[in-house]
Amino acid sequence: MKERGITVARKKIALIGAGNIGGTMAHLCLLKGLGDVVLYDVIDGLPQGKALDLLQSGPIENFDGKCLGTTQYEDIAGADVCIVTAGIARKPGMSRDDLLGTNAKILGQVGEGIKKYAPDSLVIVITNPLDAMVTLMKRVTGFPKNRVVGQSGILDSSRYRTFVAQELNVSVSSVAALVLGGHGDDMVPVRSSCLISGVPVEKLIPAKRLDEIEARVRNAGGEIVALLKTGSAYYSPASAAVRMAEAYLFDKKEILPCAALLEGEYGVNGYYFCVPVMIGAGGVEKIIDIHLSATDKKAFDESLNHVKDIVQSMDRILGVA
Ligand code: LAC
Repeated sequence: MKERGITVARKKIALIGAGNIGGTMAHLCLLKGLGDVVLYDVIDGLPQGKALDLLQSGPIENFDGKCLGTTQYEDIAGADVCIVTAGIARKPGMSRDDLLGTNAKILGQVGEGIKKYAPDSLVIVITNPLDAMVTLMKRVTGFPKNRVVGQSGILDSSRYRTFVAQELNVSVSSVAALVLGGHGDDMVPVRSSCLISGVPVEKLIPAKRLDEIEARVRNAGGEIVALLKTGSAYYSPASAAVRMAEAYLFDKKEILPCAALLEGEYGVNGYYFCVPVMIGAGGVEKIIDIHLSATDKKAFDESLNHVKDIVQSMDRILGVA
């Protein structure tokens, strides 16, 4: 829209997958006024229906952002950000890794669509098994590493913050936490990085209780799957990915734990792994290489071995091993 020489253009956010996470992200993006939203899915009717419903909440919530539901990749053309949730979710008894074969095929197609229609976008992957799916997205799109990133650690760290805040009966905003590594049951909650307004958590919660809290963090996704029975968590993964998109769209240069391609950092070469990164207008602008204690490093390496295994399994499935 052009008015008195001023061009007003909203950012375009493409959400690939209109399931529970996709729909929740669309709602968050519109409520926060982040831009116009395109909700894509292969199931005809689902994205269109959700988009109309969301649009009709605009006059009540006072947002003007547009929301388009579509089954056509061309509608994501020129998107600034693509957030990918396409694929199947876990059912009770399944690990994230059990989704590998099905979701690898889906992500291959999604990557082609993004490459063709949104070649300048930042791609944020949520689909599980996350560390393998973000690796595949990088390969298929061929985008530079600063523009392909995985959502994992913000969610895992938020779970740690939630449980610690509950335990101490303090505001979640007083609790900082960092969970690194693969987005699997062997993720690495970094205890020394958990601070309550600057006070190390170990001074406030006994070590044994912290062991239990960290075990719950590692299994937090599975705990929700077991309760829901028909799918996995969606409110918190949606919030986590939208937080990444916000940091990018507003050039916040925020330090957030995300799955980024490591090329030498932390002694890791050629794997996506969750570490603290800086997200700004350049996407993943910097990888923050923090010093890990010997215990954390051991857990980090074990988690890395798991990620290597899952990437190898993916390559076998895709016939590139
Ligand atoms: C979870 C899924 C979304 O951790 O990865 O809940």
